[in-house]
Amino acid sequence: MTDEQTSTYAGPTRVFSGIQPTGNLHLGNYLGALKKFTTLQNDGWDGIYCVVDLHAITMPYEHEVLASQTRQIAAAMLACGLDPDQSVIFVQSSVRAHTELAWVLNCMARMGWLEKMTQFKDKAGKDAERASVGLFDYPVLMAADILAYKATHVPVGDDQTQHLELTRNVAGRFNQYYGQDVFPMPEGLIKGPGARIMSLKDGTKKMSKSDPAENSRINLIDDADTIARKIKKSKTDTLGDMPSDVEGLEGRPEVANLVGIYGALADMSDEQVLAEYGGTGFGTFKPALAELAVEHLAPITARMRELMDNPDEIDAALRKGTEKANAIAEPIMDEVRRIVGFWRP
Ligand code: TRP
Repeated sequence: MTDEQTSTYAGPTRVFSGIQPTGNLHLGNYLGALKKFTTLQNDGWDGIYCVVDLHAITMPYEHEVLASQTRQIAAAMLACGLDPDQSVIFVQSSVRAHTELAWVLNCMARMGWLEKMTQFKDKAGKDAERASVGLFDYPVLMAADILAYKATHVPVGDDQTQHLELTRNVAGRFNQYYGQDVFPMPEGLIKGPGARIMSLKDGTKKMSKSDPAENSRINLIDDADTIARKIKKSKTDTLGDMPSDVEGLEGRPEVANLVGIYGALADMSDEQVLAEYGGTGFGTFKPALAELAVEHLAPITARMRELMDNPDEIDAALRKGTEKANAIAEPIMDEVRRIVGFWRP
C-alpha cells in the first residue's frame, strides 16, 4: 500500500454509504448503519444511500430473489426515516457511473493492494483460485461508489476500514497520476454506540445474517414476542449482576454487548446505562431491554411491512433517487472522462 494520501480537495462535504441486499436485516444493521444514516440526515448532512446490488453478485447468490431483497433494503431505509426528498436513496445498478468509474479506477489500483484485502481472503476461503474476479475487485467498485459522488465521509462499520484506506489510495493515485486534486480522501464515520453489535449467543462474534443460530440475532421483521424471547434467552455469564461501572464490563463481552445495544437504542452511553442498571440482576435488565427494543423497532417493522405491501411507494422513491444520483455523478464522470483523455466526438 502507498503512504497515507492527502488531497487539497475543497469541495462540499457529502456522505455516501451502501448496504448489500443479502438476506434479512438485523439489529446490527439497524444500529450500525440505518439509524446512523437517519441521524446524519437529521443533523443536516448531504447523504447518498445506496443498495449495492452490483456487490451482491460477487459471490454465489439467488438471482430469483435479488430484486425483492433490493426492494426490502430500500423499504428499510425509508422505514427508518431516510427521506427521499432530503437524501438520495437508490439502487447501485441503476446508475451507470458506478461501473464506468470502477473500470477507470481498476487501472489505478495495483494488484498488490487488492491482494492484501482481508475481506477477500475471508470470503474466498481456501480455494481463492475459484473466487470470482468480481469478488477480488469488490473494493475498487466500492471506491467507485464513493468517488463517483466525490463523497468525503463514509459511515461504515470498522470491518470496512481497510476498504476505505484502499479508496483513499485509489483516489490519491488518480490525483497524482493526472496531476489534479479531482477526488477527496474520504474518511470513515464510525463513532458512537452501536458501531459493533455482537451475536446474542457469543459476545465475541459480530451479529450476522449468516449465523445458523436464529437466536443469535434480532431481525428487523421479528414480531414483539420473538424479540422479547431472543433477548431473554441471550447469553450472559456467571460473574454476577450488572456491573456499576464500565470497568466492570471488561472480560464480560455478552453483558457489554447488551449494555451497548441498550445504549444505542436509547441514545445513552455505557456509563449512563450502568448508572441506571448497575447492581440489578439480568431478570430486571433483560425485560427492560426487550421492552425498549420492541418499542423502538415495532413502528419501523410496521412501516416496512406497509411499504412491502405497497411497493409503488418504494419504487417511486428509488426512481427519484436514481435521478438525483445521476445529476450528481454525471458531471463528475464528464470531468473524469476528459481528464483521462477519452475523446467524445
Ligand atoms: N462493503 C460494504 C459492506 O459490506 C458495502 C458497500 C459497498 C459500501 N459500497 C459501499 C459501504 C460504499 C460504504 C460505501 O458493508
